[in-house]
Amino acid sequence: MNCDLLVVGSGFFGLTIAERAAESGRKVTVIDRRPHIGGNAYSEAEPETGIEVHKYGAHLFHTSNPSVWEYVNRFTTFTNYVHKVYTTHNGVVYPMPVNLGTINQFFQAAYSPNEARELIAEQAGEFNAKEAKNFVEKGIALVGRPLYEAFFRDYTAKQWQTDPADLPASIVSRLPVRYTYDNRYFNDTWEGLPTDGYTVWLERMADHPNIDVKLDIDFFDESQPFNKRATVGHVPIVYTGPVDRYFDYSEGELSWRTLDFEQEVLPVGDFQGTPVMNYPDTDVPYTRIHEFRHFHPERDSYPSDKTVIMREFSRFAERGDEPYYPVNTAADRDGLLKYRELQGGEKDVYFGGRLGTYQYLDMHMAIGSALSMWNNKLAAQ
Ligand code: FDA
Repeated sequence: MNCDLLVVGSGFFGLTIAERAAESGRKVTVIDRRPHIGGNAYSEAEPETGIEVHKYGAHLFHTSNPSVWEYVNRFTTFTNYVHKVYTTHNGVVYPMPVNLGTINQFFQAAYSPNEARELIAEQAGEFNAKEAKNFVEKGIALVGRPLYEAFFRDYTAKQWQTDPADLPASIVSRLPVRYTYDNRYFNDTWEGLPTDGYTVWLERMADHPNIDVKLDIDFFDESQPFNKRATVGHVPIVYTGPVDRYFDYSEGELSWRTLDFEQEVLPVGDFQGTPVMNYPDTDVPYTRIHEFRHFHPERDSYPSDKTVIMREFSRFAERGDEPYYPVNTAADRDGLLKYRELQGGEKDVYFGGRLGTYQYLDMHMAIGSALSMWNNKLAAQ
């Protein structure tokens, strides 16, 4: 094997490890089964309009971690984009997450922060959050019945394809309600979008003489080079694919939700006036619509008479679907513990990233945990 480290998966986790290892003088091979690098953060220009589309769902970068912020700025600058979301309920548009603007618009009132707090506390008193038996009781205990039913009940049912009465209370610990008019979606210190797009950022991370990227290579396909049988035990491996797949599902399949995307070019300059519009009501089958031009209002190359939208639908993943969000049932947690024990028996294989650890990770978390793995486990080897 003519490399010092094999990285399986070219998402943010794998590329961060590869870049650090290459900088320290190691020769690194990165494989990915997809035809492009970047994992789920990959984006590309829609051919008819040139508008940058996030192929695996909208990706907004945000972090409060100074080391991650310093690290990512080595590869890209960021625009001053600030993420804001709106929601259309019963034909009326409200700002999200629920804030004083949403509350006053919903109740047709002019409550002060304290008045709104008292109102929601009174409405939430119907159930006790600690004793909630299911998602419905927990949701009402957190925000009161009127807001729960308008903005969370049917949206959650669509996301999970399950009646919220049958969903465990544990899937939600809090529902954000702000008693100011601040409708910034994220509270982080730094936020923005990569000025030249995600793929340019990801390519710059891989652009190092010590890094060799090989695409369309599946680690489990024994007819291809760098497969599991040919490499484990011969070279240190950082594996960022699904942990259950690595062990051939011996402890059962971990469950995921997936998303289906319906992309369309429309003959209008602006479809919805904002990047993301949620649709919490049952009469609309999708959960949200993204309109990509609004992620980069600073780009004057975008056409003024066309736009790209993407409707998002949510469902349980089956084998072969893209795994997006861990479902995390009690059986999943049991299975994960067993897989973690099995990992101990794999010499020189390091499991990381969202698939390798079976957890939802934002980009800054994937990068941060890769930096920690590098600093704490791999750098000294
Ligand atoms: P990632 O999944 O990106 O990469 C894993 C790679 O491994 C993939 O390229 C895959 O092809 C490859 N692989 C798997 N099995 C393989 C095999 N057998 N052989 C070879 N290669 C294999 N984060 C955020 O900060 N802001 C946001 O707005 C969003 N939005 C968002 C929307 C949606 C719909 C999702 C699902 C996720 C987000 N994220 C996000 C999270 C973000 O996508 C996530 O943090 C990164 O993808 C994590 O990078 P990883 O490298 O861990 O996984």
